[in-house]
Parts: sequence; structure tokens; C-alpha cells
Amino acid sequence: MILSPTIDNIKKAARIIKNGGVVAFPTETVYGLGADATNKDAVLKIFEIKKRPKFDPLIVHIATKSDVLKIAYLPKEVEKLIELWPAPLTIVLPKKKIIPDIVTSGLDSVGIRMPDNKIAIDFIKESKTFIAAPSANKFTKLSPTKPQHILKQLGDIPIIDGGKTVYGIESTIIKYQNGDFYLLRPGAFELEKIEKIIGKKLKRDTNKRIEAPGQFKKHYSPDKKVIIVKDETKIKNPKNSAYIYFDDNPQKNFSFKFALSKNKDIREAASNLFDLLHKADEKKIKFIYVQRVLEKGLGVAIMDRLKKAAK
Ligand code: TXA
Ligand code: MG
Repeated sequence: MILSPTIDNIKKAARIIKNGGVVAFPTETVYGLGADATNKDAVLKIFEIKKRPKFDPLIVHIATKSDVLKIAYLPKEVEKLIELWPAPLTIVLPKKKIIPDIVTSGLDSVGIRMPDNKIAIDFIKESKTFIAAPSANKFTKLSPTKPQHILKQLGDIPIIDGGKTVYGIESTIIKYQNGDFYLLRPGAFELEKIEKIIGKKLKRDTNKRIEAPGQFKKHYSPDKKVIIVKDETKIKNPKNSAYIYFDDNPQKNFSFKFALSKNKDIREAASNLFDLLHKADEKKIKFIYVQRVLEKGLGVAIMDRLKKAAK
């Protein structure tokens, strides 16, 4: 059931949440599959619909910055990052009891963000709670950037239609622990901006001392095989394949060609990435070749998703 984002429909969706149901809703990154974060039976439905393992924790979405204190403890060092909200930036903080264990997979921390999307904010406000929501796709599959992507994977659930999402790639996730900030997932919020505010580099948790469940090697995957390429001219057999490219116009005779951005704009490329992977995946082909991008700014998040899609 696709609901146009009228105030009546947003109220209707909020009633579904209050009654313990699930609703897919737009954010500035990708669509989320939401349930009342304080209702463990409702949250369980998310895991069932997505076929998601229970050890993969959910992000809790709030409508006002100050709500962060209702669900988590806020170390002083993190306060200035909260000022960046609403933004595609998830911050993992020590959780309060109001958030049931199923949301955080038993961790004593919770990922929180305030989305930069008016429909999402109105929906959370009307629900009068906090909304636990993963991306609205089947586990390990491509994230949805349009309502049709959700219908394809999850069937006919209530979906608030917010059109195509602006960023098209998930939020950046960071965690503060013992005086350091760690990057758990690169995403739509540029790392350089965070580093400017905290005045130091984000740490990458190479020793796996930080708990970051859910960062599976295979993720964001179409059904077709994804292959990352640097130089398209070296591909031996372009037939039966699609090519998703960023900068050079393809020379070879691919069955389908998709430009990530006509203006070679990395922001536009990120916002089109999942949609083009969905489109390529629907074609009768064997391989999806994707041109690599420079790992700088949003390029870090794009390459993170591509490497996982290619596993
Ligand atoms: O942009 C987004 O972040 C979207 C929209 C809907 O907000 N949501 C999203 O959720 O991408 P999901 O569930 O697909 O990815 C969330 C990831 C989890 O897989 C997990 O790795 C991490 O967030 N996460 C959540 N809570 C955590 C915690 N307490 N500690 C460490 N990692 C956590
Ligand atoms: Mg996801």
C-alpha cells in the first residue's frame, strides 16, 4: 500500500506504528522499515520481514535533537556532533533502558540519528515515539531509494511515498569510545566534515576492538554478479552485461550502459548508485560491471558499497 505523503496519510501511518505495526518511510538516505523502537514485538516484525539476523542492531530515528537524551547518555565530547543533525550521520551512544535489547542486539549501545527529511520527521513526531528502522530491503540485498524497490523485495507493506531519496546511500555511522571517535560505516555524511569538528582523524577499527556487528562482508548485493573495473576497455566479453560508469563514456558494446552522473558529480553518482544497480539487476544479463571511483569524499561510501556488492 503506497501512501502519498499527505498529513492524513502520515497520521494513518503513525497509527499503524502506535498499534505495533511496521511502515516503510523515506529518509534523505534510503527508505527505512520502521517500527516503534520502544515496542519489542513491533521491532521483531522488522527482523522477520527483512529475514535479518537478530545480531544485526537497528538505528533509532528521532524527530528532535533533545530526544537523544531520552534514549541514550551523551558524553560531552559528542555534544557538538549532535548539532550537525538533522543529517545522514548516525552516532552510537550508551543506551538507556527504554530501548529494548532486540533493537540493539543486546549491546549496551544504540545507533541514533535525526533524518534530514520532512516526511520522516513529521511521521516520527506523529507516532509520538522513536522509530527503529533498518533499510527497507531483504537482508544483504540492495537498499531501496524508491518505493518500487521496496514493493519488489518486501511485497505490499504500507509505504509512505517520498519519491527518490536525495542521497541514495546510507548514513555514516560513528562511535565515541574512551576518548576516540571510530568510523563504523562510511556513508552519506562526509568524513572530512566530522574530522573538522572533532579536530582529529576518525579511527578505523582495524583491531576489531569496537563492536560493529552487521558490517557483513557481503551486503548491498544485486542477484547478478557485480564486478568492479578500473579500465572498461579490458573487459573481454561485454555481451550479456551491463556497465555502470562514472567518468569515461564506454567504448565497448555492453548490452546496457548506465551513467552514474551525467555531470560527473559524485553526489549525483551516490544518489543514483542503488537505483542503477536495481535497474541493471532487472535486465536479462549475467554480469554488472561498475567503474570504480576515487575513494575521496562520498567516493569512500560508494566504494564501500560496491566492494560488498561484489563479494
Ligand atoms: O541511512 C541509514 O542509516 C538507513 C536509514 C533508514 O536511516 N538505515 C540503515 O540501517 O542503513 P541498517 O540497519 O541497514 O544499517 C544499520 C547498521 C547495522 O547494520 C549495524 O552495523 C549498525 O548500523 N549499528 C546499529 N546499531 C549499532 C550499535 N549499537 N553498535 C554498532 N553498530 C550499530
Ligand atoms: Mg541496510
